[in-house]
Amino acid sequence: MTSKHREISIAEFFEKNKHILGYSNPSKALITCVREAVDNSLDACEEAGILPDILVKITRTGENVFRIVVEDNGPGIEKEHIPRVFGKLLYGSRFHAIKQSRGQQGIGISSAVLYAQITTGKPTTVISKTEGGTACRFEIMIDTKKNEPEIMSFEETEWFSPHGTRIELEIKGSYVKERKQSVYEYLKETSVVNPHARITFITPDGEIHEFRRITSEPPVPPVEIKPHPHGIEIGPLIAMLKTTKARELRGFLKNEFVRIGDRISEEIIQKSGLDSRADPRSLTREDAEKLLNAFRLTDLLPPPVDCLSPIGDRLIMKSLMEGYSPEFVYAVTRKPRVYSGHPFLVEAGIAYGGEIKEDKITLLRFANKIPLLYQQSGCALTQAVVSVNWKNYGLQQSKNELPVAPAVILVHVASTNVPYVSESKEAVSGIPEIIEEVRLALQECGRRLKEYVERKKTIQKRKKKEEELLKIIPLLARKISEVVEKDPVDHEKVIARIMGKVYITRSTDNGKAVIEICNFSSSRKRFRIYEMCEGGINGERIAKWDVEVEPKETVRIEYEFSGKHINVKPLVEGIENELIAGAEVVRFGSGAEGTESSA
Ligand SMILES: Nc1ncnc2c1ncn2[C@@H]1O[C@H](COP(=O)(O)OP(=O)(O)OP(=O)(O)O)[C@@H](O)[C@H]1O
Ligand SMILES: [Mg+2]
Repeated sequence: MTSKHREISIAEFFEKNKHILGYSNPSKALITCVREAVDNSLDACEEAGILPDILVKITRTGENVFRIVVEDNGPGIEKEHIPRVFGKLLYGSRFHAIKQSRGQQGIGISSAVLYAQITTGKPTTVISKTEGGTACRFEIMIDTKKNEPEIMSFEETEWFSPHGTRIELEIKGSYVKERKQSVYEYLKETSVVNPHARITFITPDGEIHEFRRITSEPPVPPVEIKPHPHGIEIGPLIAMLKTTKARELRGFLKNEFVRIGDRISEEIIQKSGLDSRADPRSLTREDAEKLLNAFRLTDLLPPPVDCLSPIGDRLIMKSLMEGYSPEFVYAVTRKPRVYSGHPFLVEAGIAYGGEIKEDKITLLRFANKIPLLYQQSGCALTQAVVSVNWKNYGLQQSKNELPVAPAVILVHVASTNVPYVSESKEAVSGIPEIIEEVRLALQECGRRLKEYVERKKTIQKRKKKEEELLKIIPLLARKISEVVEKDPVDHEKVIARIMGKVYITRSTDNGKAVIEICNFSSSRKRFRIYEMCEGGINGERIAKWDVEVEPKETVRIEYEFSGKHINVKPLVEGIENELIAGAEVVRFGSGAEGTESSA
């Protein structure tokens, strides 16, 4: 009997099992191809400190056949690497590096090339140019039997861009519009967590969408670190012992791991019962086990965190504002933590109301700045959102469901080793430390949202009361003045008194002005007042005073001016609009600190 056994190449394996890599249906396949290319462009730009400018163009070339072009202004790829980057599965620059990056496995873009080849039989065209080099144009296919690139054509060519990469592939797929799972949504969400990128998307219908760059500061590139002793497993440890350049065990520990110095190295060796001068290559599996136990018994500093690159709370808020135009936004970046020796950090944001009309919450999940569009319910990030008691924060929520509110919730986990559920990077697995951090971040967002909503309600109530008063008081004032035959009282002041506001008046006489500030509220108020005159005030065109006024106190400001006032009413800064009457609230960004407590 002839044996049917033979080796299977990784490319052959994925040819048959393409669903594992995210090619399980035509519309998902199209998104996956775009995603693999765009993630790579963003990674490459980030590493090179370049502000990404990315073009994504999809054209329909036949029934269910699409040409995808993704072009970036990244550093480009050196000529000798291009064939294997695109034509060999498991070939990349990030697999061995311990730092946060979108790419991890070295399989992303070559799997897209493979998918194109499987479904249309066509090669992928790549143009790439490095700074000062010549652009190279390759047509590449994959020899699946060998998992090696097949170069169909090569030429040096002219390319307008000083550096960058352009990839063009044709696939069988399906293009869907305006769904949670679409190329548009993927790019929109990508732009939310990559506010330093400009992404232009040309759809098969010729529409052009531009996701603007809203910050010109590129993120600080993460720094590569060595493994942390608490994150290593027996297999990799044995492999490290076999391949290290260190001659002695103590040198091995110090050179190959973070957070091991002379003292810790001695402590570990002592706990393991091994010889500090032993040749690492001579250690057995049992010795490695002893070493691993000693690692566990030793207190170590957590890994350094510059291997992570968060988006930052301010930029998340800015991005949510830009993308969803809400009335309220808040975001948190938590401090880095560690799970099984891998550093990670969690960020969360919430955007509420305004243009967000849908009552059902939209959950945006991200891992290392990649949007996760699929497997929402099977993702630990979703579980964490669901596990928060949103009723505490004033939102409706059924058991084991997402809350109900016109809101967008964003959750981002960044790590040197995102624990994805599968190779296609669709969901994060349930690591307790990560879930806990997400919960803490969301609880803070929830508290802020609750404060906002409650304040909004109070303001609305006050406004309503004021409107009622405005209907009655002027009438009453007129009637009383008629009866007592006196000038009508200043009803604005009366309303300010009833509403507990700060009331400001300006009176002028012959180049002299007096501002009177009466504090009818129950707390001390501090703010800044501005006045502007055509001919100047005390020699200045704009005059300003920092004011502090106790409850029931009246403060007077006197000044001389020439010409007309430019502002009709005094301008105030550093106090809420609803607490002021008789003046206009402005925001120049330099006002005195806000009120001590609201009235
Ligand atoms: N647009 C690009 N610009 C510069 N380098 C690139 C670009 N695309 C890919 N590369 C290089 O090619 C390598 C392989 O890319 P590939 O997408 O296959 O793997 P990866 O991004 O490292 O990991 P993953 O499989 O998780 O995507 C990358 O590691 C990177 O070094
Ligand atoms: Mg990749």
